[in-house]
Amino acid sequence: MQPETFARPMTMAERADELEEQKMHELEHIITKSVLFNLADGKVEMEGGATLMAKNPGKYMLMGADPRLPQMPEKPTLVDYFRCRFASTSHLLQSATHALKAGHDEKVILACLLHDIGVVSFIRCDHGYWGAQMIGPYVDEEVSWAVKMHQALRFFPDESVGYLYPEMYVKLFGPDYKPDPYIVAEYNRARNHKWYMTSRLITLNDIYSFDPNAEVNLDDFVDIIGRNFKQPKEGLGLDSSPSAHMWRTMMWPTRFL
Ligand SMILES: [Fe+2]
Ligand SMILES: [Fe+2]
Repeated sequence: MQPETFARPMTMAERADELEEQKMHELEHIITKSVLFNLADGKVEMEGGATLMAKNPGKYMLMGADPRLPQMPEKPTLVDYFRCRFASTSHLLQSATHALKAGHDEKVILACLLHDIGVVSFIRCDHGYWGAQMIGPYVDEEVSWAVKMHQALRFFPDESVGYLYPEMYVKLFGPDYKPDPYIVAEYNRARNHKWYMTSRLITLNDIYSFDPNAEVNLDDFVDIIGRNFKQPKEGLGLDSSPSAHMWRTMMWPTRFL
């Protein structure tokens, strides 16, 4: 018979938390989770500096690179972020390959290549806006505008170019899903804009049924990036552009401050 004090077995989530905690203790510095990371776990909480120091005697806060992540070069380029920080690049590469094969100009190809970087590097909610802001200082205004507006346009068909409401969205969001009013308003603003078609082409080349076997390669786009993305000489994120901090955050997501 089991004694009454027998502990229940740990759940998978508890075990994962414990391992994570152990791993953090093995590291030289104290690695912190920002509030946003906790919000994603359904918790509105944060651990303060004093608590963390008390839990980790003799250690200082991490104020640089997280040793658990792929090491970034001293002066990172957009390609380095693709390789070391973007969790998945196949969708971006498939969309850009589609645009390349369709013979679109380099601005459109670049816009397709970058349209979902918000999702693969940062956050899903409002990813078009995040992505546009990140690339804004480094690309032609038309490219960042198109990335921003694809957030809204993808919900609205345009039969003139053969774009229908994606079947995939019916599956993902249900048949009754309606975009929020701010998205509808954004669509109405974009509809008559001079760059409408650039953004529309993102949605048209967006690959909604991802092919896990498609052969795509970032190398095919390195020249297009070189010609159309203004790589700062200090390194992307280490420059003083209005969005450099966003790239730095991606480079050092667990820095204490
Ligand atoms: Fe998107
Ligand atoms: Fe997409």
